[in-house]
Amino acid sequence: MGAKLSTQNRRRVASRLHASKNIGNKRQEGIETKNKNPSYTSLSCAALPVFTTSQSSDGIVRNGRTFHNEQTSTYWFPNDDEEIDRLVGQHFALKTLFNGNIPEEALVDNVLPFEDGAKILDLGCGPGTWIMDVATEYPNSEFIGVDMCDIFPNNIRPANVTFQVGNVLEGLAFEDNSFDMVSLRFFILAFRTEEWAGVLKEIRRVLKPGGFMLSIEPGMLEIGSDFVCWAGKIFKDKMLERGQEPYISDEMKKTMELAEFEVVHCVKKHTYLGRPDHLNREFLWDIRSIFKSGQAFLAESFDISNEKYPAFLDQLTAECQKLPETRWSMVSTMGRKPF
Ligand SMILES: C[S@@+](CC[C@H](N)C(=O)[O-])C[C@H]1O[C@@H](n2cnc3c(N)ncnc32)[C@H](O)[C@@H]1O
Repeated sequence: MGAKLSTQNRRRVASRLHASKNIGNKRQEGIETKNKNPSYTSLSCAALPVFTTSQSSDGIVRNGRTFHNEQTSTYWFPNDDEEIDRLVGQHFALKTLFNGNIPEEALVDNVLPFEDGAKILDLGCGPGTWIMDVATEYPNSEFIGVDMCDIFPNNIRPANVTFQVGNVLEGLAFEDNSFDMVSLRFFILAFRTEEWAGVLKEIRRVLKPGGFMLSIEPGMLEIGSDFVCWAGKIFKDKMLERGQEPYISDEMKKTMELAEFEVVHCVKKHTYLGRPDHLNREFLWDIRSIFKSGQAFLAESFDISNEKYPAFLDQLTAECQKLPETRWSMVSTMGRKPF
């Protein structure tokens, strides 16, 4: 199940872990277009995308990208090296945006025993960047990452981290009251609207009384030029078509409260994709990569052929840097299981 992390990509993950200060220095693909006027302006074309789809032992291959093959999951992004690269970059951008990996409320007054042996679970850990980063900060704590795709490093990882393959929608294979913290991040494209409540109930079950659930979810692309808003709407409509909740970032506080968590932290941060600083450039690259990763599902809705899709990505990147400013928001929410 899932794509194997190539040796090259494992090295990339490891080098990013030790080079988070280099944020924004790489992957300028398509992002130098700021001062260029893209010649590509007409999106409609006669030829609709022709996707070649096949199945391999690693999952489903659509048009050269690899996807999971879990029947119960609506997750629609790839699990290949290119996507892993995006997730690694996105992790360090989020860490900078939210001033660290864990909100203050879980760190003050030794509220959790991070220094002495806390137990932390990361659901949908992807390549494991968050969990390995935090595990390196707290070598006395124990960390478990779970993902339905085996894209995490199996050999090169901190000694206090283990990974397991598992589908969160099938329940969590852990005892009641066993974790101090559970992280669930960027599941917006993974759950149907009605699946969130059941997953939060399971998280509450495996958390110790007083333990924390941590979430970060992004908002929709709805503030910017007409072109940006149009692209954002097509993306949102695709989510709705798949039964997913585009506004889960804003709904998370209420969703946690309904699952009987006490919400102790809810912070919304904005990124401005046209601004030239490293952090905003990183989120610009992320948005471009998100629309690229979604190509197999989005191109038809955009009415763009595969040949013209790179030009569409160039135009989106350029439009994101025009006025009115493109704003993209993220919400970090943390709830506590009552004692
Ligand atoms: C957008 S990625 C986020 C990865 C990581 N949490 C991060 O913030 O970098 C979503 C991850 O969730 C995993 N995923 C999606 N649905 C899942 C499920 N039902 N059970 C376990 N993992 C799932 C995907 O395979 C993917 O690695």
